[in-house]
Amino acid sequence: MNYQQLGSHGPKVSAIGLGTMGMSDMYGPADRSESIATIHAALDQGVTLLDTGDFYGMGHNEMLVGEALKGRKREQVQISVKFGALRGPGPGEFNGYDSRPAAVRNFIAYSLKRLGVDYIDIYRPSRLDPNVPVEDTMGAIADLIKQGYVRYIGLSEVGAMTIRRAQSVHAIADLQIEYSLISRGIEREILPTCRELGIGITAYGVLSRGLISGHWQKNSEKGDFRGRAPRFQGANLDTNLALVEKLRTVASKMGVSVAQIAIAWVIARAAVQEASIVPLIGARRRDRLAESLGALSVRLTPEQLAEIERAVPPDAAAGARYPDAQLAHMDSERS
Ligand SMILES: NC(=O)c1ccc[n+]([C@@H]2O[C@H](COP(=O)([O-])OP(=O)(O)OC[C@H]3O[C@@H](n4cnc5c(N)ncnc54)[C@H](OP(=O)(O)O)[C@@H]3O)[C@@H](O)[C@H]2O)c1
Repeated sequence: MNYQQLGSHGPKVSAIGLGTMGMSDMYGPADRSESIATIHAALDQGVTLLDTGDFYGMGHNEMLVGEALKGRKREQVQISVKFGALRGPGPGEFNGYDSRPAAVRNFIAYSLKRLGVDYIDIYRPSRLDPNVPVEDTMGAIADLIKQGYVRYIGLSEVGAMTIRRAQSVHAIADLQIEYSLISRGIEREILPTCRELGIGITAYGVLSRGLISGHWQKNSEKGDFRGRAPRFQGANLDTNLALVEKLRTVASKMGVSVAQIAIAWVIARAAVQEASIVPLIGARRRDRLAESLGALSVRLTPEQLAEIERAVPPDAAAGARYPDAQLAHMDSERS
C-alpha cells in the first residue's frame, strides 16, 4: 500500500480508501459478515481511510464500522464521517439538511457513541445546508477540533465559492466529490480551486456506482438508488454500457480489469493535474476489494491515458449523475 498526505492540511492516508455506504444503504441488501470481513481485509492490506455517514442506514453503517474496528488500534485507521442529511422512517426518505452548530454537536455525540471511538478523524457536512452560512458550520467543527472530538475538517459536494468561504474559517483537509472517467465536471473549477488552496480530494463514484466496473449488465438488479439514477435508465444505459465495452477492449490489451483501469485512471489524472486525489472505493465484498486494490499496481503511460480517453471521451456518458431533484440542491453543480 502507498500512503500520501491528503492535500496540504490533511492526514497521511492510504492511496485508496474504502467507502462503506453500500454495506448499509443505497445498493440493496448487503451481507453483514462479508461486509465486516471486507473492512478487515482492507485494514489488513494497509487501507487506513474508511468513509461513512451517520445517515447511511440511519446509524447502521457507523455501528457496523464500529464493530469491525473492535480490537483494532485506533491510530491504524482514519474515520471520515458525513453528517447533516435528515432521514425519515419511510423507505429512502430524505428531508433536507441541518448543519446548524447545535445540530453538528448533536450529530457528533451520536456518531462517537455508535462508532465506539472518542474522536473522528475527518468530519464533514454531507451537503451545503442552504439555511446555514457555511462559516457557522465550519466554526462548530473547529470548536470540536479544539475539544479533541475531531482531527480534521472535510467538505462534500460543494462548489468553488463555498470551498473558499469554508477555508477562510479553518484549513480543510479534503473535499469529497464524485469523480470518474464519466464524471469529470470537477476539472473545470472545483479541482483547480482545491489544488490552489492545498485541499485534497476524496473521489467517490470512481466506478460510477458499479456502472463502469465491468460487472454491470443491462439486466442487473436495479431495485435501489441505481433504479432512479439517470445513467442506469433505458437508452442512457445502452450508451453507457457501450462505453464500458470500449474500455474493456483497452483493459484487456493491458491485462487488467475494467474496474482496475477506471480506478487507475483517477490516480493517473491526479498526477497529471498535480492534485491530491484519493479514490474511495465502494467494495462490499472481499473479491471486489481485491480487484480494486489491484489498480494500485497499474501504472498508466501517457499513451495509455490517451487511449482510455479516446475510448471514453469527457462528457461521453448519457444521463446526469444524480436524479434532477437531487442535483437541484447540490452546491457543487453551481461551479
Ligand atoms: N459524499 C457523497 O456525496 C458520497 C456519495 C456517494 C458515496 N460516497 C462515499 O463513497 C463511497 C464509494 O462510492 P460509490 O459507492 O459511489 O462507489 P463506486 O466504487 O463507484 O461503486 C461501488 C459499487 O460498484 C460495484 N462494483 C463492481 N465492481 C467493483 C469493484 N471491483 N470494487 C468495488 N465495487 C465494485 C459494487 O456494486 P455491488 O456491490 O452491487 O456489486 C459497489 O457497490 C461510498 O461508500 C461512500 O462512502 C460519498
